[in-house]
Amino acid sequence: MRALVVYESMFGHTEGIAHAVADALSARGACVELVEVHAAPRAIGCDFGLVVVGVPTHVVGLPRQPAVPEASRRTGLVIAKADFGIRKWLDDLTMCDHQPAATFETTSDRSAGSAARATARRLRDRGAEIMGTASFRVVDAPGPGTAGEADRARAWAAGLVLDAAIHRVG
Ligand SMILES: Cc1cc2nc3c(=O)[nH]c(=O)nc-3n(C[C@H](O)[C@H](O)[C@H](O)COP(=O)(O)O)c2cc1C
Repeated sequence: MRALVVYESMFGHTEGIAHAVADALSARGACVELVEVHAAPRAIGCDFGLVVVGVPTHVVGLPRQPAVPEASRRTGLVIAKADFGIRKWLDDLTMCDHQPAATFETTSDRSAGSAARATARRLRDRGAEIMGTASFRVVDAPGPGTAGEADRARAWAAGLVLDAAIHRVG
Protein backbone atom coordinates (compact mmCIF):
# COMPACT_ATOMS: atom_id res chain seq x y z
CA MET A 1 0.00 0.00 0.00
CA ARG A 2 1.20 3.54 -0.78
CA ALA A 3 0.88 6.02 2.08
CA LEU A 4 1.34 9.77 2.10
CA VAL A 5 2.27 11.59 5.32
CA VAL A 6 2.04 15.40 5.16
CA TYR A 7 2.96 17.68 8.05
CA GLU A 8 3.38 21.30 9.05
CA SER A 9 5.83 22.07 11.84
CA MET A 10 7.26 25.23 13.35
CA PHE A 11 9.49 23.90 16.14
CA GLY A 12 10.05 20.38 14.81
CA HIS A 13 7.77 18.39 17.12
CA THR A 14 5.04 17.67 14.55
CA GLU A 15 7.81 16.73 12.14
CA GLY A 16 9.20 14.29 14.73
CA ILE A 17 5.80 12.67 15.25
CA ALA A 18 5.30 12.52 11.45
CA HIS A 19 8.60 10.62 11.17
CA ALA A 20 7.46 8.19 13.87
CA VAL A 21 4.17 7.66 12.00
CA ALA A 22 6.01 7.14 8.69
CA ASP A 23 8.42 4.65 10.31
CA ALA A 24 5.54 2.64 11.75
CA LEU A 25 3.69 2.60 8.42
CA SER A 26 6.88 1.43 6.65
CA ALA A 27 7.42 -1.25 9.27
CA ARG A 28 3.92 -2.57 8.47
CA GLY A 29 4.80 -2.82 4.77
CA ALA A 30 3.51 0.50 3.43
CA CYS A 31 5.47 2.39 0.78
CA VAL A 32 5.58 5.79 2.49
CA GLU A 33 6.13 9.31 1.17
CA LEU A 34 6.78 11.77 3.98
CA VAL A 35 6.58 15.43 2.93
CA GLU A 36 6.51 18.83 4.57
CA VAL A 37 3.41 20.72 3.46
CA HIS A 38 5.31 23.00 1.05
CA ALA A 39 6.29 19.94 -0.98
CA ALA A 40 2.96 18.12 -0.67
CA PRO A 41 0.97 17.32 -3.83
CA ARG A 42 -2.07 19.53 -4.51
CA ALA A 43 -3.86 16.52 -5.99
CA ILE A 44 -3.55 13.18 -4.19
CA GLY A 45 -3.68 10.18 -6.49
CA CYS A 46 -6.15 7.37 -5.87
CA ASP A 47 -3.25 4.94 -5.58
CA PHE A 48 -2.51 6.25 -2.08
CA GLY A 49 -4.26 3.81 0.23
CA LEU A 50 -3.73 6.06 3.25
CA VAL A 51 -3.16 9.79 3.73
CA VAL A 52 -2.00 11.04 7.15
CA VAL A 53 -1.90 14.77 7.91
CA GLY A 54 -0.17 16.20 10.98
CA VAL A 55 -0.49 19.75 12.25
CA PRO A 56 0.42 21.75 15.35
CA THR A 57 -2.48 23.23 17.31
CA HIS A 58 -2.38 27.04 17.14
CA VAL A 59 -4.95 29.16 18.97
CA VAL A 60 -7.30 26.22 19.48
CA GLY A 61 -7.25 25.20 15.82
CA LEU A 62 -5.26 25.08 12.61
CA PRO A 63 -2.24 27.39 12.29
CA ARG A 64 -2.85 30.58 10.40
CA GLN A 65 -0.18 32.24 8.33
CA PRO A 66 1.62 34.14 9.51
CA ALA A 67 1.66 32.73 13.08
CA VAL A 68 5.29 33.67 13.26
CA PRO A 69 5.01 36.88 15.34
CA GLU A 70 2.95 35.10 18.01
CA ALA A 71 5.32 32.13 17.98
CA SER A 72 8.29 34.45 18.39
CA ARG A 73 6.54 36.20 21.27
CA ARG A 74 5.80 32.89 23.02
CA THR A 75 9.31 31.54 22.71
CA GLY A 76 11.58 34.56 22.30
CA LEU A 77 13.05 32.92 19.18
CA VAL A 78 13.54 34.28 15.68
CA ILE A 79 11.47 31.99 13.43
CA ALA A 80 11.76 31.94 9.64
CA LYS A 81 8.88 30.15 7.91
CA ALA A 82 7.26 30.60 4.51
CA ASP A 83 3.70 31.85 4.26
CA PHE A 84 2.07 28.51 3.53
CA GLY A 85 0.67 25.79 5.73
CA ILE A 86 -1.86 22.96 6.02
CA ARG A 87 -4.77 25.42 6.15
CA LYS A 88 -3.96 26.82 2.70
CA TRP A 89 -2.97 23.40 1.33
CA LEU A 90 -6.38 22.01 2.30
CA ASP A 91 -8.17 24.88 0.54
CA ASP A 92 -7.10 23.72 -2.91
CA LEU A 93 -6.57 20.03 -2.27
CA THR A 94 -8.20 17.40 -4.44
CA MET A 95 -8.34 13.74 -3.49
CA CYS A 96 -10.36 10.63 -4.27
CA ASP A 97 -13.80 9.83 -2.96
CA HIS A 98 -13.60 7.58 0.12
CA GLN A 99 -9.80 7.82 0.21
CA PRO A 100 -8.68 6.58 3.65
CA ALA A 101 -7.13 9.35 5.72
CA ALA A 102 -6.18 10.13 9.30
CA THR A 103 -5.08 13.26 11.09
CA PHE A 104 -3.04 14.10 14.15
CA GLU A 105 -2.24 17.23 16.05
CA THR A 106 0.50 18.23 18.42
CA THR A 107 -0.55 20.34 21.35
CA SER A 108 0.96 21.79 24.46
CA ASP A 109 -2.40 21.50 26.23
CA ARG A 110 -4.45 18.48 25.23
CA SER A 111 -7.67 19.98 26.57
CA ALA A 112 -7.57 22.89 24.11
CA GLY A 113 -9.32 22.69 20.72
CA SER A 114 -8.50 20.20 18.04
CA ALA A 115 -6.49 20.98 14.95
CA ALA A 116 -6.72 17.26 14.14
CA ARG A 117 -10.52 17.29 14.05
CA ALA A 118 -10.54 20.55 12.07
CA THR A 119 -8.18 18.96 9.54
CA ALA A 120 -10.31 15.81 9.42
CA ARG A 121 -13.44 17.86 8.69
CA ARG A 122 -11.72 19.58 5.77
CA LEU A 123 -10.41 16.30 4.38
CA ARG A 124 -13.86 14.76 4.67
CA ASP A 125 -15.24 17.70 2.67
CA ARG A 126 -12.80 16.73 -0.07
CA GLY A 127 -14.00 13.15 -0.10
CA ALA A 128 -11.76 11.42 2.44
CA GLU A 129 -12.93 8.62 4.71
CA ILE A 130 -11.45 9.41 8.13
CA MET A 131 -9.88 6.36 9.79
CA GLY A 132 -8.91 8.21 12.96
CA THR A 133 -7.60 11.31 14.68
CA ALA A 134 -4.96 11.56 17.41
CA SER A 135 -3.42 14.14 19.69
CA PHE A 136 0.19 14.15 20.87
CA ARG A 137 1.52 16.27 23.70
CA VAL A 138 4.64 18.33 23.03
CA VAL A 139 6.37 21.36 24.47
CA ASP A 140 5.87 24.83 23.01
CA ALA A 141 9.45 25.40 21.83
CA PRO A 142 12.28 23.59 20.07
CA GLY A 143 13.96 20.80 21.97
CA PRO A 144 13.18 17.26 23.03
CA GLY A 145 9.55 16.21 22.74
CA THR A 146 7.42 14.80 25.51
CA ALA A 147 8.60 11.32 26.51
CA GLY A 148 6.60 8.46 25.10
CA GLU A 149 4.62 10.41 22.50
CA ALA A 150 6.64 9.09 19.54
CA ASP A 151 5.98 5.53 20.74
CA ARG A 152 2.28 6.33 21.07
CA ALA A 153 2.34 7.73 17.53
CA ARG A 154 3.96 4.53 16.22
CA ALA A 155 1.28 2.39 17.87
CA TRP A 156 -1.48 4.62 16.47
CA ALA A 157 -0.03 4.43 12.95
CA ALA A 158 0.29 0.65 13.12
CA GLY A 159 -3.45 0.43 13.74
CA LEU A 160 -4.14 2.73 10.79
CA VAL A 161 -2.46 0.35 8.35
CA LEU A 162 -4.87 -2.38 9.40
CA ASP A 163 -7.89 -0.08 9.20
CA ALA A 164 -6.90 1.15 5.73
CA ALA A 165 -6.39 -2.42 4.52
CA ILE A 166 -9.82 -3.46 5.84
CA HIS A 167 -11.33 -0.41 4.15
CA ARG A 168 -9.73 -1.44 0.85
CA VAL A 169 -11.07 -4.99 1.06
CA GLY A 170 -14.50 -4.06 2.42
C1 LIG B 1 0.98 30.81 17.74
C2 LIG B 1 0.83 29.59 18.59
C3 LIG B 1 -0.42 29.28 19.13
C4 LIG B 1 -0.58 28.11 19.91
N1 LIG B 1 -1.82 27.81 20.39
C5 LIG B 1 -1.98 26.64 21.08
C6 LIG B 1 -3.29 26.25 21.56
O1 LIG B 1 -4.30 26.93 21.36
N2 LIG B 1 -3.40 25.09 22.24
C7 LIG B 1 -2.32 24.28 22.46
O2 LIG B 1 -2.48 23.23 23.05
N3 LIG B 1 -1.08 24.61 22.03
C8 LIG B 1 -0.88 25.77 21.35
N4 LIG B 1 0.35 26.11 20.89
C9 LIG B 1 1.46 25.19 21.10
C10 LIG B 1 1.65 24.36 19.84
O3 LIG B 1 0.66 23.38 19.75
C11 LIG B 1 3.04 23.73 19.83
O4 LIG B 1 3.97 24.79 19.71
C12 LIG B 1 3.18 22.82 18.63
O5 LIG B 1 2.39 21.69 18.81
C13 LIG B 1 4.59 22.41 18.45
O6 LIG B 1 4.65 21.74 17.22
P1 LIG B 1 5.79 22.09 16.18
O7 LIG B 1 7.10 21.89 16.92
O8 LIG B 1 5.64 21.09 15.10
O9 LIG B 1 5.61 23.49 15.73
C14 LIG B 1 0.53 27.26 20.15
C15 LIG B 1 1.78 27.60 19.60
C16 LIG B 1 1.94 28.74 18.84
C17 LIG B 1 3.28 29.05 18.26
